[in-house]
Amino acid sequence: MSHLISSTTMLQVARKNGYGITAFNVHTLEMLQAVVEAAEELNAPLILQTTVGTVKHLGPEYIVAAAQTAAKKSNVPIALHLDHCTDYDLLVKCIREGYTSVMIDASMFPFEENVARTIEVVKVAKAAGVNVEAELGKVGGVEDDIIVDEADANLAIPEECARFVELTGVPTLAPAIGTAHGIYKGEPNIAFDRIAEIARIVDLPLVLHGGSGIPSEQVRRCVALGMSKMNVATELRIAFSNAIKDVFTANSDENDPRKYMVPAKQAVKALAMEKMQLVGCAERAAQLKF
Ligand code: 13P
Repeated sequence: MSHLISSTTMLQVARKNGYGITAFNVHTLEMLQAVVEAAEELNAPLILQTTVGTVKHLGPEYIVAAAQTAAKKSNVPIALHLDHCTDYDLLVKCIREGYTSVMIDASMFPFEENVARTIEVVKVAKAAGVNVEAELGKVGGVEDDIIVDEADANLAIPEECARFVELTGVPTLAPAIGTAHGIYKGEPNIAFDRIAEIARIVDLPLVLHGGSGIPSEQVRRCVALGMSKMNVATELRIAFSNAIKDVFTANSDENDPRKYMVPAKQAVKALAMEKMQLVGCAERAAQLKF
């Protein structure tokens, strides 16, 4: 494929064809390599994403270099997305460094303020050929430093979604529809009617946040209704960490990082392949010609 691409077109194609594309939060080089290998093995388009915390932890230059290397070596389309950013300057820095998709999360502000902040980002991102995602309503749970109490989480309002898209020109929308970041205590309480109503009046790829722990049948329903991107973070972290814990349980003296990183990478790859098959993006890479 040779270079990182914007996720706008790949998500539009997914929405039009009724499948989803998985966006995986990665925190280490091995996690990034694992999801890239999963995409290659399934011939699937891929969205790599990092939280602001990971950008600060690794540095955007290292992340972009690794993602660009993956894109250069790989024959599947790959986008690099900045997840849940509230800081305009950091967001612009990531675009300058080479991110091809960004999320401006101003969902904690009143509607007008969310609109105003999103417009500013759409302006700069469009000029750079970069995708933009914005959130309406409030997704509950914990994602990096963004903590939304269950009581404060609220669903997106369909009419507001349509107005928001019209006012901002944002190409991808993440409406809160009842999922939460992190692991669910019980089953998620997904508002399927709400998704259907939003998808009916907003003809854009919709984003499903909180992809970890949603029962498969419910994921399929969300995708069929128009959720074209599914974010997965927590489950990948758990798979990665559990594989490492297993190595140390078997040999607490292990001191060669390759001995625990290889099984951790394999665990992430296997899980990523499962999620890709679930949303239906396997064998979809060829559909995207750039
Ligand atoms: P999970 O951690 O629940 O998978 O959510 C990921 C997410 O939505 C990142 O934005």
